[in-house]
Amino acid sequence: MGDRKGLSHIPLPISYTPSFWRTSVQAIKTGVWNGVIREFYDFLPRVKEDAIVTLNEGNTPLIEVKNLRDIVGDVKLYLKYEGLNPTGSFKDRGMTMAVSKAKDDGSHAVICASTGNTSAAAAAYASRGGLRAYVLIPAGKIALGKLSQAMMHGATVVQVEGNFDEALSIVKDIAKTYPITLVNSINPYRLEGQKTAAFEVCNHLGFSPIYHFLPVGNAGNITAYWNGYKEYRGRGIINTLPKMMGFEAEGAAPIVRGYPIKNPETVASAIRIGNPSSWQAAVKARDESGGVIDMVSDDEIIYAYKLLASREGVFCEPASAASIAGVIKMHKKGIFKNGDTIVCTLTGHGLKDPDTAIKSSDKPITVPAELGKVVKVLGF
Ligand code: F0G
Repeated sequence: MGDRKGLSHIPLPISYTPSFWRTSVQAIKTGVWNGVIREFYDFLPRVKEDAIVTLNEGNTPLIEVKNLRDIVGDVKLYLKYEGLNPTGSFKDRGMTMAVSKAKDDGSHAVICASTGNTSAAAAAYASRGGLRAYVLIPAGKIALGKLSQAMMHGATVVQVEGNFDEALSIVKDIAKTYPITLVNSINPYRLEGQKTAAFEVCNHLGFSPIYHFLPVGNAGNITAYWNGYKEYRGRGIINTLPKMMGFEAEGAAPIVRGYPIKNPETVASAIRIGNPSSWQAAVKARDESGGVIDMVSDDEIIYAYKLLASREGVFCEPASAASIAGVIKMHKKGIFKNGDTIVCTLTGHGLKDPDTAIKSSDKPITVPAELGKVVKVLGF
């Protein structure tokens, strides 16, 4: 057992006095990240302290792209890697806000329609806060990682034989009639929470980027980022605003085409949406910022998805790669100047959708468990 008195008989060096411990404990404390509601307290609607439901979301890395100069030119390109939020997507920022507000208002249940990530986040935050979660998803159309999350967190998962837009219309009706809080991004608290990602980008860079690229589905996130940037400028924290660059998938591009798409189709299941809720707000963000909302094909999405994983070590889900596909498309159009600072939001983690990852990759080589056979396939 040894000497239980330990080193207590040895006089402490000066730096180990109680005052040292006080300072060092304070120093350690300031390094703890407390989730977006507490970290951006002055920028968000008030929630009672004991109603805050958080998984310490936010504070995701802004990763500088190093190896793609031949593809995107001589720009400073950063990835806001939102896949590193607690449930693996940017939805956590809005969900901490929406679920906390629901709890604060005395609600006992939340409901949403989802292409997967919103349902995962709603289920996780509801379980954390002691609320029930009901999620409606398009049957057979969401990535397996997301479905597994909603199921593991104990949500009631209802598969609707229809698409996201139909599911959303049903949950809106339910929330009007029954005592249950809607946590899709038409809930204004969702976008309030999501705008914090724009704050973080500015805090990390020390200024606002020239361009901000995002995938667009239900169009909430591009709206939220724009609100965040405008708020930071309104408070004098940044001087300039970025151009907002949103990218829909070609088979699900209602904003680009100018009309709702009845049967949206794309490999990027997260943005398979034909009639976005925040359509007008996204158009406003585009126009006020002098940006664009454009579209990319599935081939361009998969190319960008594989490029990031294989050359930058960053694995995002297909929908997220629409933003990088957008950067590549805009580079080809020659819109960037050398040295431009560009931020691309990678909205969700690649592990959300293992099926698409495996389908897009070469199959592993199978060999007998023999040294010679392994060495041979390795090419030595
Ligand atoms: N990227 C991912 C990974 C998403 O899950 C979503 C939306 C988007 C981009 C588009 O963001 O809707 O704000 O324009 N997913 C929603 C969901 C629709 O149900 O999980 P948006």
